[in-house]
Amino acid sequence: MNQRDVIIACDFSSAEATLAFLDKFTDCKPFVKIGMELYYAAGPAIVKEIKDRGHKIFLDLKLHDIPNTVKKAMSVLSKMDVDMCNLHAAGTIDMMKAALEGLTRPDGTRPLLIAVTQLTSTSEERMQKELLINASINDTIVKYAQNAKEAGLDGVVCSPLEAGMVKEACGAEFVTVTPGVRFADGEVGDQVRVTTPERAKEIGTDYIVVGRPITQAEDPVAAYKRCVAEFVG
Ligand code: C5P
Repeated sequence: MNQRDVIIACDFSSAEATLAFLDKFTDCKPFVKIGMELYYAAGPAIVKEIKDRGHKIFLDLKLHDIPNTVKKAMSVLSKMDVDMCNLHAAGTIDMMKAALEGLTRPDGTRPLLIAVTQLTSTSEERMQKELLINASINDTIVKYAQNAKEAGLDGVVCSPLEAGMVKEACGAEFVTVTPGVRFADGEVGDQVRVTTPERAKEIGTDYIVVGRPITQAEDPVAAYKRCVAEFVG
C-alpha cells in the first residue's frame, strides 16, 4: 500500500518568505511542494536549500510542450534531488513517455512522475464550454489517468473527490496526489472541487496537497498538524 502524507504547497514569492515559513516547523519536516511562483522567483537554489534542510520535495512545474522539449526539461530536473515532479496529461501519451525517459537518471533512478488531469479549479461547465471537451469531467479525468498509466507514469494529480474512481480504473498502487483540500470550517477560495482531509482519507487518496489552509493560518504548524491528524492519523 502507498504511504499517506500531507504536502504543504509553499506558494510564496521569495526564498526568504518560504524559509521563514519553514523555520516555524521545529519538530517536524513536512513534505513541501514548490510551485511555479516560488521556482520562477528563486530558481533551483531554493530546491537545494529546502532539500538540504531535510524536506521531501514535490516540484510542481506542470510541464506541457512538445515531447522533445519536455524530455530535455525533465532531464535537467532529474539532476535536482526532488522526490516528485509533474506534467499535464493533456500533452498526450507520447509527451508523457518522453518525459519519463528524460527524467530517468543513468543509474535507473528517478523522482515520482505524476500527471495533472484537470485542474481542481476547473468546473465541468467551463471544461465543456471553453475547452470544447464534450465528455463529463469524470470521464475526462479517468481517461487522462489511464493515458498516464499507459505511458508508465506513477500516478495523477486530481481532486480527492476523484481519487476513488482513478484507483478503480488504474489500480490501488497508482498514486493519487490531491489538492483542493479544505477544513470543514475553512474558506474554499478559488478551488471548485474540494473536500476535507478526513473525507480524502476515506476516499483513499495517497497525498493531499494543502496550501492556504496552512500557509495563511494564524498558527501554520497547528494547521499542518491538524491536517496530518485528520488525514494520516
Ligand atoms: O492554497 P491551496 O490549498 O488551494 O493550494 C493548492 C495547490 O495545489 C496550489 O499550489 C495549486 O497550484 C496546486 N494544484 C491545484 N490543482 C491541481 C494541481 C495543482 O490546486 N490540479
